[in-house]
Amino acid sequence: MAKAARIASMDFYREHTNLKWVILAVSVIISVGTIYYTNILVEQLKGRERNQVSLFAKALEYTSNDTDNNILFITEEIIYKNNSIPTILLDDKDNIVNFKNVEIDSLWTPKEKEKELQKQLKEMKRTYPPIEIVSKDPVTSEVFGKQYVYYKNSFLLTQLIAYPYIQLSVIAIFGFISYLAFNYSRTAEQNRVWVGLAKETAHQLGTPLSSLMAWIEVLRDDPQIRGKGIVEELDKDIRKLRVVTERFSSIGSTPTLKDENIYQLINNVVSYLQPRVSSKINIEVYTLSETIRAKVHAPLFEWVIENLCKNAVDAMGSTGTIAIKILRGNEGKVFIDISDTGKGMNKSVISSAFKPGFTTKKRGWGLGLALAKRIIELYHQGKIFVKSSEENQGTTFRIELKSA
Ligand SMILES: Nc1ncnc2c1ncn2[C@@H]1O[C@H](COP(=O)(O)OP(=O)(O)O)[C@@H](O)[C@H]1O
Ligand SMILES: [Mg+2]
Repeated sequence: MAKAARIASMDFYREHTNLKWVILAVSVIISVGTIYYTNILVEQLKGRERNQVSLFAKALEYTSNDTDNNILFITEEIIYKNNSIPTILLDDKDNIVNFKNVEIDSLWTPKEKEKELQKQLKEMKRTYPPIEIVSKDPVTSEVFGKQYVYYKNSFLLTQLIAYPYIQLSVIAIFGFISYLAFNYSRTAEQNRVWVGLAKETAHQLGTPLSSLMAWIEVLRDDPQIRGKGIVEELDKDIRKLRVVTERFSSIGSTPTLKDENIYQLINNVVSYLQPRVSSKINIEVYTLSETIRAKVHAPLFEWVIENLCKNAVDAMGSTGTIAIKILRGNEGKVFIDISDTGKGMNKSVISSAFKPGFTTKKRGWGLGLALAKRIIELYHQGKIFVKSSEENQGTTFRIELKSA
């Protein structure tokens, strides 16, 4: 059962990261595809607009050179039909002779109008080379002047060029917002599960615990049992059960923090754990001061230290040292570094270690560090992270708290 759960959760993490890459790859393909396809359309439309302007220029040429009324009728039609591509006609001395489809406000002064035309012209000169119109004398065919048609992309073409970028940005923003919303609702759901399970556990433990406490009083008075140390052992177990119940009930509600002696709390945990681990594992506590205080919820804080020490024990096997250092940081901070001489963590384990359900152990549930993170960050506004880790050398976890 435990093994199946472990395998399932490992697969979940692997597939989860794979899925991320697949989604990323598909998004890139769609984006590149959209931009590529629109570019083809843009190039086709550019070609068409160039042809249209050439035709427009030809028509202008005919109109100025020819007197054939039949052709004039057609050419004027062509000139008139260009109602989308902005064009400016220059003579060979760079004076503006005429313009079409350049937006000019009728309320503008001639100066403002000229300024706008020059601005547009500058842009057109940058965009495409002009189309030349040759003016000839209709009778002698002698060239007496040249004119130039400058133009730029129609509004439609400009829009088409910008379209894929606008579209992709809108999709990206939409995706980002849905991701945030999804994440938020998932976190809210996880919170409900944490709190609900914890409360339910505390509640279920409470009833048999109070009846056990009554029974122990009965046993204490029994002459056959008294004096054999049985009641004392039972008492210890019940006390531990009460601690566990208190932990669960605290995680299910917002705990109130109290000014506590950190060194003392850590010593409590160590003296509970030391006799319960292999005799070749040493747990050492170092501090410069035995009165370092911080605002904590004692049962939950002890739970965190216990979890970190248990992980350290798991990482070391049967021999090694756990060193717990209590330090005063600057800006009123307290650091608690828990180091072991165990197998260490590689980068991918470090990045997933605090996620609920992540474990590399046969009989692990992967909740210890997730719980520790929740207790330290959510209830104590502190930090917990892997400070350093070296494979086959050991790991150091750091807890940062605000000092009292
Ligand atoms: N001190 C440590 N040394 C090496 N690996 C660790 C240590 N602490 C945690 N880990 C890694 O982080 C994982 C998650 O730890 P945890 O959340 O406590 O779950 P569990 O102990 O049930 O596996 C562990 O399975 C282990 O791979
Ligand atoms: Mg653990």
